[in-house]
Amino acid sequence: MTSIFQAIPYQTMQIDIITCLPEMLDSFIGNSIVKRAQSKGLVTINVHQLRDYTSTTYRTVDDYQFGGGAGMVMLAEPIANCIRKLQEKRTYDAIVYMTPDGKRLEQKTVNSFSLFENLIILCGHYKGVDERIREHFITHEVSIGDYVLSSGELAAAVLTDAISRLIPGVISDETSALTDSFQDGLLAPPVYTRPLEWEGKKVPDVLLGGNHAKIEEWRFSQSLERTKTRRPDLYEQWTEAK
Ligand code: 6GU
Repeated sequence: MTSIFQAIPYQTMQIDIITCLPEMLDSFIGNSIVKRAQSKGLVTINVHQLRDYTSTTYRTVDDYQFGGGAGMVMLAEPIANCIRKLQEKRTYDAIVYMTPDGKRLEQKTVNSFSLFENLIILCGHYKGVDERIREHFITHEVSIGDYVLSSGELAAAVLTDAISRLIPGVISDETSALTDSFQDGLLAPPVYTRPLEWEGKKVPDVLLGGNHAKIEEWRFSQSLERTKTRRPDLYEQWTEAK
């Protein structure tokens, strides 16, 4: 393999995920881009069962909320035990709590997270975690969108995937991560592959001419057009930034 990234020493990124449902992350970690990243030694993902950090017979991780109301709250103690145990081994750049009331995840946040070496992701459950955990340990609170999931594991998988694919060497064509939708604030242009004509629909001529300047110009104008019609909010941000 020839890659400029091979010449650059790269510290493996470690992501520690704390969850009471580790099985929910198994298929994700055992497949996908993340598996490739791990087998190449570029990322290490450790999943920690929160129940292993309880000191009670029933390995309880939640309790009723003070003041009453429906829904259980995750206990501070097991979470603190787990985080402190992890902190004995390394210093973490960020301790992220996945929660629907967190800051909505954007590509620029993913980009900045991808530069970290050690990261903890805490998955929320039920009504969430005792507020004191948030105050004491959490450096970033992240939501993946304005809708509610049953638990934070899927959101943690989303964040882990988005970060892992940015690590040099994880995706085979390193430049392709740079041309994703959102990476430059615009949606990606349309793409085509064989056959040249499918059910009467042809591939745009410009893509066949071999004129790279023209192709780039076409792609850029398509990106602009798409963003303008599909995501006027992004388009406005983009024009303001220019
Ligand atoms: Cl991070 N967690 C949960 N439970 N629901 C969500 C979310 C996170 N982001 C969007 N919805």
